[in-house]
Amino acid sequence: MHEELFSQIHNIGLVPVVKIDDASKAEGLAGALIKGGLPCAEVTFRTAAAEEAIKRISKAYPEMLVGAGTVINIEYAKKAVAAGAKFIVSPGFNPTVVDWCLENNIPVVPGVCTPSDIEQGLARGLTTLKFFPAEVSGGVDMLKNLAGPFPQLMFMPTGGISLANLASYAKQSNVLAVGGSWMVKADLIESESWDAISQICSEAVLALQGLEFAHMGINNENAQEAEKAIKGFEALGMFTKRGNSSVFMNTTIEILPKMYLGKNGHIGFRCFDIERTLAYLAKFGFTVNEETIARTPKGDIKVCYLNEELSGFAIHLVKA
Ligand code: 3PG
Repeated sequence: MHEELFSQIHNIGLVPVVKIDDASKAEGLAGALIKGGLPCAEVTFRTAAAEEAIKRISKAYPEMLVGAGTVINIEYAKKAVAAGAKFIVSPGFNPTVVDWCLENNIPVVPGVCTPSDIEQGLARGLTTLKFFPAEVSGGVDMLKNLAGPFPQLMFMPTGGISLANLASYAKQSNVLAVGGSWMVKADLIESESWDAISQICSEAVLALQGLEFAHMGINNENAQEAEKAIKGFEALGMFTKRGNSSVFMNTTIEILPKMYLGKNGHIGFRCFDIERTLAYLAKFGFTVNEETIARTPKGDIKVCYLNEELSGFAIHLVKA
């Protein structure tokens, strides 16, 4: 159901949970989120300005994934959809709201925090649920435990998530995206500190990728040259691990017995989710080398290279 929307939310990976008091600030806020790499928001019906804010954002930025949050009754759901909300989120599992959304083909992400709540969603064919309030309901450990009986479900955890712990959630395979209000603090909206909001978003988006240096791959003209290098790195105290097509020195240097991708070689980076990181890197002009994509049995990208080189090195992405 609504695969395209959920795949877009997955690639963005982070949903700002917005509480806005003054609808005239909605366009400025949306612009700041987009600039910070987050073209999406859950605008909560915790204030009277929510409906108008959704309307303004949808008009100014039709591409933005603006949804409505805290939709605790059908009246809010109807208002949100009429205002342009592309999805409906609620803190708990309200069967009336969920059924209304399903009847009207509106994407809905109800909140759950127990297996009993989850089974209500399953019974209605939902595949994505909000896990709320995440931190106080068991956090990452709870998500790991839920993956056992409910392997088909994806969660959007919110409640107590911040820059400090977002990576621990993002790396869980049953997390579609994480959400939170820390990127959109009330005082920053009030003072129209759009640059500050964009900056907090950019930091969060980078942390979400889990990007870290993995290894450096060094090209050699031939196997003889490669062996010379291996001896040298062994003399420097590194441990040799021979693979099928290359040799690893410890885990950080890969010696290739040929001139492979990259003028000089390649640099490998780990990240949590390669599809998401490719979407992120596209904004910096990077593109994927399609021929190098390898997938897990589940179909996720396991490794790939980018087309663009940095200082003569190809960039290699490896799923963490
Ligand atoms: C929500 O409705 O999802 C939460 O209020 C967001 O939680 P947070 O404020 O702890 O980020």
